[in-house]
Amino acid sequence: MTGAVVTALRALLGDGGVLTERHDVARYETGWRYGSGRAFAVALPATPQQVADVLRACAEHGVRVQPLGANTGLVGASNPDATGEQLVLSLERLNATIDVDPIDAVAVVDAGVLLSQLQAALEPHGLWFPIDLGADPQIGGMVVTNTGGTRLLRYGDVRRNLLGIEVALPDGTLVERLQRLRKNNTGLDFKQLFVGTSGAYGVVTRATLQLGPLPRQRATAFVAAGDGQAVLDLLASLTRAVGDVLTAFEVISHDALEITLRRGHNLRTPFRGELPAYAALVELASTFGPERLDLQAALEEALVAHAEGDPRGGIVDVLIGDGEDFWAIRHQITESVREEGRVLAFDVAVPRARLAEFTEAVRAALAQAYPFVRLCDYGHWGDGGSHLNLVWDRSAAPADEASFWSALQTLVYDLCVHGFDGSFSAEHGVGPHNHAFYRRYVPAPVQRAARALKEHFDPQRRLSHRYPD
Ligand code: LAC
Ligand code: ZN
Repeated sequence: MTGAVVTALRALLGDGGVLTERHDVARYETGWRYGSGRAFAVALPATPQQVADVLRACAEHGVRVQPLGANTGLVGASNPDATGEQLVLSLERLNATIDVDPIDAVAVVDAGVLLSQLQAALEPHGLWFPIDLGADPQIGGMVVTNTGGTRLLRYGDVRRNLLGIEVALPDGTLVERLQRLRKNNTGLDFKQLFVGTSGAYGVVTRATLQLGPLPRQRATAFVAAGDGQAVLDLLASLTRAVGDVLTAFEVISHDALEITLRRGHNLRTPFRGELPAYAALVELASTFGPERLDLQAALEEALVAHAEGDPRGGIVDVLIGDGEDFWAIRHQITESVREEGRVLAFDVAVPRARLAEFTEAVRAALAQAYPFVRLCDYGHWGDGGSHLNLVWDRSAAPADEASFWSALQTLVYDLCVHGFDGSFSAEHGVGPHNHAFYRRYVPAPVQRAARALKEHFDPQRRLSHRYPD
């Protein structure tokens, strides 16, 4: 069965477009954090039509397909399962087109273009795609996970910056809806079916992205705070004082900071002496140059005014320095924490006003049930997102790691979703890593609707993992 489809794919893509040797296939099988399986081959289409043709060939041969972007996903949604019966459809060669219109402030982009490639192409136009991440994903992967990142607070997620898409359906139909319209109320917004749905209904081949003006000036500070509530008070105060230029409000807990500064590479710490309970990385940005608007002065003024006027005295220190140094610390947290021991990472959101209370509730529950687990939390407090990283030493944990893992997930997710009206997956999407919790928390009528769409687009269940089944 697989021999016949490989022959068909070679006829479509040429010999270089299909990999079957074990050593070639292996690098497409394992996710960055979770997820690993076996594929019998990798297809590398280079045009949208070739993506559709691959899907049609797979439909004709009854083969299941796992689309894969830059493999930076964090829920295992882009890797093949363990059966060895899936074809990996890599979008990495679909990266020729970045079509920029500076007046529309729009780019039509191939799905396999990397975010870094897109930004480099936009810079000469004084534009950027304002989704900022530590990782370097492909645009198609960003659409199907609806990534958020560190500047969502100001610019929104992918959904908010997406004007159109082109998608290859599981039966091999290519649907082109690459409209450059900012206004379009003509019934169903078809593209939204493919945003944040983990590639369950089709493979995104191109996207029309709304661009923003590239800021000409940024001002950055680290603010040391005594507790989480002080961080939230600061957020409210900065929103009032400088909200129209506030582009990032990232928060790092003491333990995440301690690990990152110890394990990170080439980091310069601005902290003097003891690390604070929380540090907030605050950034302002503007298209005005410093001669028109002194952002650094505005930021310092707003921070000092807040610290002096804060009756709780929650601000411990204000550290002004090089933004690059601060962001380097922020972007090395994930890598640093994962070297520290066993790590179970969460990507959750709650209403942002409740972040401090929620985090303390998790901390207390862990201290009671699993005192050997360390909570290293950090995240996008400006938009209610938190990455709770649970870290422990394997020797201290129960022998049955799978059950322990699942008990920890249930504890944190139940608190988040039931206790704090939160989301069990804020920006990384749904995949094998958290699929059981999709079943647990998403209301039955919503699950039924998602399954009906799956039935419509992919009745043979050829694409992706079990979501939304
Ligand atoms: C981050 C990734 C893990 O915010 O979402 O660093
Ligand atoms: Zn994140």
